[in-house]
Amino acid sequence: MKMLDLDTRLEFLPLTESLARACGAAILALNADSEWETWTEKELLADFPRKWDLSMLVMRDGVPAAFGICSDKGGGVMHLHHFIVGRQNRGLGIGALFLARLADRGARAGLARMTLKVHTFNEGGIRFYRREGYEILEQSNGYYLMGRTIAVVED
Ligand SMILES: CC(C)(COP(=O)(O)OP(=O)(O)OC[C@H]1O[C@@H](n2cnc3c(N)ncnc32)[C@H](O)[C@@H]1OP(=O)(O)O)[C@@H](O)C(=O)NCCC(=O)NCCS
Repeated sequence: MKMLDLDTRLEFLPLTESLARACGAAILALNADSEWETWTEKELLADFPRKWDLSMLVMRDGVPAAFGICSDKGGGVMHLHHFIVGRQNRGLGIGALFLARLADRGARAGLARMTLKVHTFNEGGIRFYRREGYEILEQSNGYYLMGRTIAVVED
């Protein structure tokens, strides 16, 4: 795997509704090459339980590089609805760092598990999530539901 330069500055920011409105175009641009899901501002801003307490944005050297949209599914489950690392930032380890940050945020918000859906044909995505400790829980409509236990990482 390639590595991030040691002087790269990564910031993991809470993605609030006002930040999503302010950076909407740059966030949606990260999703531009997604062949399976087109996203508009409407999807980005759609309301879900605790979405604006759980979602995050990654800035690389001051520029949006990745985003993760999450919500509280009930029953102690945080669901990751959408997870994208921008094309030119993939394969550098940012996705792994970011997924861990999202899980930590969910655990600090009192949630016990994280789930996500991935297309059964997205082999790279499935390999990535497995490596990060996610297991396949069920399969339906061309997707796997994957999940893992999340826990607070003490500072
Ligand atoms: C899947 C994804 C979030 C991983 O983020 P990342 O920062 O590239 O991940 P890391 O650098 O921490 O790990 C790299 C691993 O991610 C996976 N991966 C999937 N697609 C990839 C891509 N286009 N480029 C690089 N790695 C990719 C591979 O398993 C890769 O490991 P490998 O080198 O052994 O094949 C990111 O590649 C992405 O946004 N892909 C497009 C959208 C998507 O598939 N989202 C997930 C399903 S909702």
